[in-house]
Amino acid sequence: MRLIKVFDTTLRDGEQSPGVNLNQLEKLEIAKQLERFGVDIMEAGFPASSHGDFEGVRNIARTIKNSSVTGLARATKSDIDIAWDALKDAAEPRLHIFLATSPIHMTYKLKKTPEQVMETAVNMVAYARKKFPQVEWSAEDASRSDKDFLVKVIEKVIDAGATVINLPDTVGYTTPEEYGILFRYIKENVRNIDKVALSAHCHDDLGMAVANTIAAIENGATQIEGTINGIGERAGNAALEEIAVALNIRNDKYPYTTNLILKEIKRTSDLVSRLTGMAVPANKAVVGRNAFAHESGIHQDGVLKNASTYEIITPELVGIQSNNLVLGKHSGRHAFKDKIEQLGFTLSNEQLLEAFQAFKQLTDRKKEVTDDDLFTILTDIQTDL
Ligand code: KIV
Ligand code: ZN
Repeated sequence: MRLIKVFDTTLRDGEQSPGVNLNQLEKLEIAKQLERFGVDIMEAGFPASSHGDFEGVRNIARTIKNSSVTGLARATKSDIDIAWDALKDAAEPRLHIFLATSPIHMTYKLKKTPEQVMETAVNMVAYARKKFPQVEWSAEDASRSDKDFLVKVIEKVIDAGATVINLPDTVGYTTPEEYGILFRYIKENVRNIDKVALSAHCHDDLGMAVANTIAAIENGATQIEGTINGIGERAGNAALEEIAVALNIRNDKYPYTTNLILKEIKRTSDLVSRLTGMAVPANKAVVGRNAFAHESGIHQDGVLKNASTYEIITPELVGIQSNNLVLGKHSGRHAFKDKIEQLGFTLSNEQLLEAFQAFKQLTDRKKEVTDDDLFTILTDIQTDL
């Protein structure tokens, strides 16, 4: 099993979700839970972006001891200096500098030539390394950058002291095959690449962030970046809980592991959702309300006989108490009987049939039948006797 380092950016890229704004106490509460969850590195914010974010990052850097704390900086001396002030008290201060390398970004956003970008990247990494023991350099928009240009810049920033190289799919444009090829290319062509960590950072614009991240791991990434519940800019980032569970469940195919404590997933997801105000979609993989719910009679019958018929993940693995058999119009007699027994009722076969018919009639009017609905049906039947 190869250990993959996990870099969580819920408090930075995740907080860049439109409409999300965490105060310092909320950031600290999430940071403590991320530490319990076992993330190796947490990006606490972007210290130069606001006074509040500076304070938030500094609080986290001073409190968290079991994860490395990092902050984002543009490739400028003033961003790096501000980040150092925020992070210097951390157990292991770490800086994350980014600079775009794609023709689109260099031409239209930075208005710099590739040579100028290379020079800035090298100078700023060298400047940062005078203060920080760990410096990650991100080639923003790497997936739309020229591979040979990337090889040249990466070699130079490694020589300048970068300890982590990140290749972001900034706009969620790449595919698993393409992103895998990029990682392999960098692995095979960059001198000294094995002396640094190689990181994947994927966005979900085409719904492929998790698949792309796993493709990067298969092609040499030693670190992955993402957020809890996949929150982040636009369509969000790769959802860390999904990657961690996929690696765990499919270890026949993926011989990789992480330091994450999977049973903390649900608690972490709930906390992030509550404090960011970003609801988790019901059908979201791993943590959605329906991820362990079964509605159809055929599935419910299978699950009652043996959960593995329709569940590839046990709810307990991710910190959920049990699965949930939802009573709706597709439900069958097996789940219905099981449910009324759980509610403490024992019915004769005749009563059971009558109750089941009343329940089916109700499902034509109501999507989901609750315990209260069942109590009404069952007490009616018992008073009829
Ligand atoms: O998506 C991205 O490119 C980023 C960088 C700042 C690393 O978030
Ligand atoms: Zn990003």
